[in-house]
Amino acid sequence: MALRNILKQGDETLSKHCRPVTDFNARLHQLLDDMTETMLQANGVGLAAPQVGVLRRAVVVLETNTPEGEEYPIELINPQIVETSGEQEGPEGCLSVPGSFGMVKRPAHVKVRAQDRDGNFFEVEGDGLTARAFCHECDHLEGHMFTELCDHILTDEELEAYYAQEDDSQ
Ligand code: NI
Repeated sequence: MALRNILKQGDETLSKHCRPVTDFNARLHQLLDDMTETMLQANGVGLAAPQVGVLRRAVVVLETNTPEGEEYPIELINPQIVETSGEQEGPEGCLSVPGSFGMVKRPAHVKVRAQDRDGNFFEVEGDGLTARAFCHECDHLEGHMFTELCDHILTDEELEAYYAQEDDSQ
């Protein structure tokens, strides 16, 4: 496995539409392994292929909502959001826009249909941060960034105030 360079906002690759993955070969497996390593090293919860310069429909999302607290990566090839419900609004960030967060509304629950690294179709559901990451990463495949969905980038004071309020409500 190897770390890949994460493209930053402003790179035109990030605004491009990605093509479907058609070859489920060793090259794809290497890409997915590298994406997971790169995401984990950057403390992210999701990474899309275009963020490492590959215009193909492949993403990895870190599932963190596990009862035992054991996180694991989910690989989604040619993902499609097939069901959503509820709503959540909270600070969202992106490894291509490091250190910046904006308030973004997303569904609270999301079901995705995708293929695994060998081409087998499956469905996976996510809540909370995982649902947010599914939406965020699928947006990347259409060339869209979270910054298109928020009013403004939160100031440090706004972020602190948000988390202070969250702590109070728990
Ligand atoms: Ni992102």
